[in-house]
Amino acid sequence: MKKSLIAAAAISMSAAMLTACGSDSNASDDDTITMGFSQVGAESGWRTANTASIQASAKEAGIDLKFADAQQKQENQIKAIRSYIQQKVDVIAFSPVVESGWDTVLQEAKRAGIPVILTDRAVDSDDTSLYETFLGSDFVLEGEKAGEWLVANAADADVDGDGTIKVVQLEGTTGAAPAIDRADGFATAIAADPSIEVTASQTGDFTRDGGKQVMESFLNSVQGIDVVFAHNDDMGLGAIEAIEAAGLVPGKDIKIITIDAVKDGMQALVDGKINFIVECNPLLGPQLMELAKKVLAGEEVPKRVVTDETTFTQEEAAAVLADRQY
Ligand code: AHR
Repeated sequence: MKKSLIAAAAISMSAAMLTACGSDSNASDDDTITMGFSQVGAESGWRTANTASIQASAKEAGIDLKFADAQQKQENQIKAIRSYIQQKVDVIAFSPVVESGWDTVLQEAKRAGIPVILTDRAVDSDDTSLYETFLGSDFVLEGEKAGEWLVANAADADVDGDGTIKVVQLEGTTGAAPAIDRADGFATAIAADPSIEVTASQTGDFTRDGGKQVMESFLNSVQGIDVVFAHNDDMGLGAIEAIEAAGLVPGKDIKIITIDAVKDGMQALVDGKINFIVECNPLLGPQLMELAKKVLAGEEVPKRVVTDETTFTQEEAAAVLADRQY
């Protein structure tokens, strides 16, 4: 099992979608752990940093990583997981693009005796025996932190001074855990101040382009927008482009709150174009490799491992920007 012996010809995925990273499996000795990893895609700066962390950590840990980019499609992730089962990898890890619809393929992995580790995003299955552990952020908490900042800064956020704070929300991918949970957490926090209302909410698919396009349509259809709450930095950066193109000043005429804290987002915060960022840490690779080794050694691991995260104001971002890894 520890060595990938199934010929590439047996794998139905295209070479472009499925590439081996880390050490060469042909050069592995029998004790080398093989991990099949199905990534969501390359939709954001966060995702790029997450992929780099996983690839570098696998190499560092001496784990033979088989990596597939699903291009934000669940069917591609299911195909990748099935190919990893066929290849008899030692462990499968993946970041599910959406929450639901995983039971069948996870049961196939379980029947094959291959442990599964969820990273970054959760699945909504009732059967928690289908995975060993879930490593990632608390997305509800992230949404709450964004909403709490807005409640605390409500007076300043009422840009047009009409007593109502109109928020437009740029949602992440429909059905994805971070989109669902961040919206929920934000709604819970802003319920503390009845003058704050989410006037419009639409998906920008976690991409810069998506954020720009949705913001353009909000600017045309919603009067008196005070605040943008974007579920990630990339959509917030796209919104900045749309706001500037409309002749408005991001961060002043319209306040902007985002989640992630990647370098581009932090730079925009330092520049005053974003007003507040909630961190979502993409550097999950080292913990993932450690968990995989423990699971395969038969050691007990916690069912949930929550990532440590913080928040950034403009001053706080300025203090750390130069040393930001991603
Ligand atoms: O699942 C984490 C989210 O996915 C990040 O916030 C976002 O940037 C990414 O695309």
